[in-house]
Amino acid sequence: MASDLVRISVAMPCDLLDRLDAFSARRGLSPNRSEAIRDLVRERLVGEVVGDPDAEVMGSITMVYDHHRAGLTQRLDEIQHEHLDVVVSKMHVHLDHGLCLETIAVRGSSAQVHDLSDQLLGVKGVRHGKLVCVAAH
Ligand code: NI
Repeated sequence: MASDLVRISVAMPCDLLDRLDAFSARRGLSPNRSEAIRDLVRERLVGEVVGDPDAEVMGSITMVYDHHRAGLTQRLDEIQHEHLDVVVSKMHVHLDHGLCLETIAVRGSSAQVHDLSDQLLGVKGVRHGKLVCVAAH
């Protein structure tokens, strides 16, 4: 399979690289960073490719962001108001002086839910985010 491999260059902060190495060691993954990154990418993408885009799903979008960042909170609210048919409910937790955690309950077609998640988690300033969804039926 070596002929299928494409070499890329990835820049990341030292502390993130340290965390990747520690994560790989804990999970018993190969000390080879390329293999560790491939495993993580596969794990992240597996949920993206399965499922019918028209299937009815429900789940949650959880994200952490800095509410001091100009326009960020407003943009996240606007996106949710544009998806009234998908957003069911929301919980907001003030984590510390600057950071907020939000968990949004969602329901709709897989395509709608993924579209909302991609829009929210793609907003600059959202530090962490994850969509978890299951079949509604
Ligand atoms: Ni807050």
